Amino acid sequence: MLSYRHSFHAGNFADVIKHVVLVEILEYLIRKDKPFTYIDTHAGAGYYALTSEPSGKTREYESGIGKLFGQALPELASYLSIVGQYNNAGRLAHYPGSPLIARHFLRREDRAWLYELHPRDFELLAANMAGQRSIKVLKEDGLKTFTRLLPPLSRRGLVLIDPSYELKTDYAAVVNALITAHRRFAGGIYALWYPVVERERIHQMEKALIGSGIRDIQLFELGLTADSRGHGMTAAGMIVINPPWTLLTRMQTILPLLASTLASGSNGYHRCRILAQE
Ligand SMILES: C[S@@+](CC[C@H](N)C(=O)[O-])C[C@H]1O[C@@H](n2cnc3c(N)ncnc32)[C@H](O)[C@@H]1O
Repeated sequence: MLSYRHSFHAGNFADVIKHVVLVEILEYLIRKDKPFTYIDTHAGAGYYALTSEPSGKTREYESGIGKLFGQALPELASYLSIVGQYNNAGRLAHYPGSPLIARHFLRREDRAWLYELHPRDFELLAANMAGQRSIKVLKEDGLKTFTRLLPPLSRRGLVLIDPSYELKTDYAAVVNALITAHRRFAGGIYALWYPVVERERIHQMEKALIGSGIRDIQLFELGLTADSRGHGMTAAGMIVINPPWTLLTRMQTILPLLASTLASGSNGYHRCRILAQE
């Protein structure tokens, strides 16, 4: 049984880059009047109280959303407005997870599939999504089973893959899952979140994706400090297959802003990299 609970980490800097990219992609998808399918392979509980014991213990949100909330940052307007909708009177007390952020964009014909394995987080997620007929919540292994949903009927789709990487095998498993998924649905948008704990693992992931022959892959990374073995997560990033054409330019503006706002002193850095051309 895995022990990871996202409530300890909700709203941290790694959630910020993940959810900013998520919002950018979803905003692009709803520009067209055609339905899309959203798949979240590791959905979490969906909604987090930052006043809860887990959040209070780590206080990770303070160096993430805590530094952005309430600031006038036009580049992050959509993301901050969504977070704002879960917080009264401008006081930061709650944070929406990826399922709630995605739900914000779903229209009548759009569909969502949310996977969560942890029994308690599954219950919370199911309660948070109760009464939404277009959203299915599944207590199954998302990474192993999401490919069976591909290609979706809508033929337009976004898959968010956001594991906790508790198992070192996850680094290779996500690449294999992406390759299988892309074979079944080459036109889908895939967004993979990763933490930088050991840089070599990320190098290997990038190499494997480049070697897979999949076209049109971009990488966006936000670092709070330089790589440092044994100091936990120093950076986090998103790898996006078939990104919206708008994403690279947007992230080239947003990432320097996040690096300077969230990192202390001049330690922050960012990377925008095209891993494979269109
Ligand atoms: C990083 S958290 C997800 C956070 C969420 N995507 C968000 O952005 O708000 C990872 C979640 O995946 C769940 N999980 C771990 N392995 C899983 C699997 N194989 N299938 C589905 N869920 C899994 C964990 O219980 C945890 O809640």
